[in-house]
Amino acid sequence: MSKLLVTGGCGFIGSNFVRHLLQTDPTVSIINLDALTYAGNLANLADLAGHPRYQFVRGDITDRDAVRKVMKLGVTEVINFAAESHVDRSIHDSGPFVLTNVLGTQTLLDAAREFQVSKYVQVSTDEVYGSLGATGYFTEETPLAPNSPYSASKAGADALVRAYYHTFGLPAVITRCSNNYGPYQFPEKLIPLFVTNLLADLQVPVYGDGQQVRDWIHVLDHCTGVEAAWRKGRPGEVYNFGGRCEKTNLDLTHTLLDLLGKPHSLIRYVQDRLGHDRRYAIDCTKAETELGWKPQVPFAEGLRATIRWYEQNTAWVSAIRTGDYLRYYEKQYGQAA
Ligand code: NAD
Ligand code: TYD
Repeated sequence: MSKLLVTGGCGFIGSNFVRHLLQTDPTVSIINLDALTYAGNLANLADLAGHPRYQFVRGDITDRDAVRKVMKLGVTEVINFAAESHVDRSIHDSGPFVLTNVLGTQTLLDAAREFQVSKYVQVSTDEVYGSLGATGYFTEETPLAPNSPYSASKAGADALVRAYYHTFGLPAVITRCSNNYGPYQFPEKLIPLFVTNLLADLQVPVYGDGQQVRDWIHVLDHCTGVEAAWRKGRPGEVYNFGGRCEKTNLDLTHTLLDLLGKPHSLIRYVQDRLGHDRRYAIDCTKAETELGWKPQVPFAEGLRATIRWYEQNTAWVSAIRTGDYLRYYEKQYGQAA
């Protein structure tokens, strides 16, 4: 029986992963270590309160004592989702990105070594490969060329994971996925920001000319990819995941406006992001052939379901808008950590 340490489980992808695994594997138990930064929301896993195979611990992955304390609960494997994840914030202040993404990963790697876990999974991103021109794809062999402080910090973490495998034989794998969308995504990223703005008849800010390309994947497809890498990934290997679904930001914006029945005049062109990567596209052949993984959710279907989710979860959205969600921990546990 696996006792998994999942870090960052109160964020967007981590919460979807925890729920997915507990629902589909009755032999697994999960400890979720999350610092509850602005991106961590206890409401994302409120439905798991009291679940016999789930435990939440508030703690920071850069805190060695906190991490060792959790490892002593009998952790057998580690999956690291915890990160500062928003490019725009990393341009504003890269400090928390280096701390959590690099130092936090090092802290987890040291703990994984000390407690001799049987697998360590580092959830990374396709953004470590940099930006593509009009053609071509990122493969696992593409040299790392991060362009934003966010992707640079993720690449630094990946380099450490690789080094711990080579130097110490830590059974670690790295996953690199393209842009995720789905329920529980913090409304600072393109899709949830635009959907929640449009539901309130607010404008949507398109950066620059809107011709940047992203490869979209439903969060559950990413979760099954991370699961496959955890179960079957070979130590020392990297696995790319993508949705084979490239869209320009402007095309995607038009689709969102149309699905929500809103006028295109709600588009507001704003100043471009500094150093904005032009195109990401993933070749996920290795994950398909080696792990038997495939993205399953068609974009049109996943996008409609995602819009429905934001329409139906207005309390989740408004608690974020008012900042009430930041007080859930005190309400539930009676004190600030
Ligand atoms: P998110 O920002 O929604 O969630 C991050 C979570 O990590 C939050 O719950 C936050 O509280 C927690 N956290 C942050 N710093 C912490 C710390 N020091 N200690 C403990 N917990 C901390 O992020 P996400 O979109 O769910 O992304 C999860 C992972 O997947 C990240 O590593 C990210 O780089 C990677 N990724 C994301 C995408 C995407 O499209 N969102 C794509 C590929 C890879
Ligand atoms: P984002 O969701 O921040 O993901 P990432 O930067 O990790 O790809 O942004 C997706 C794309 O959308 C990216 O090209 C930047 C663009 N974008 C906008 O045009 N307007 C916005 O308000 C946001 C948040 C993003």
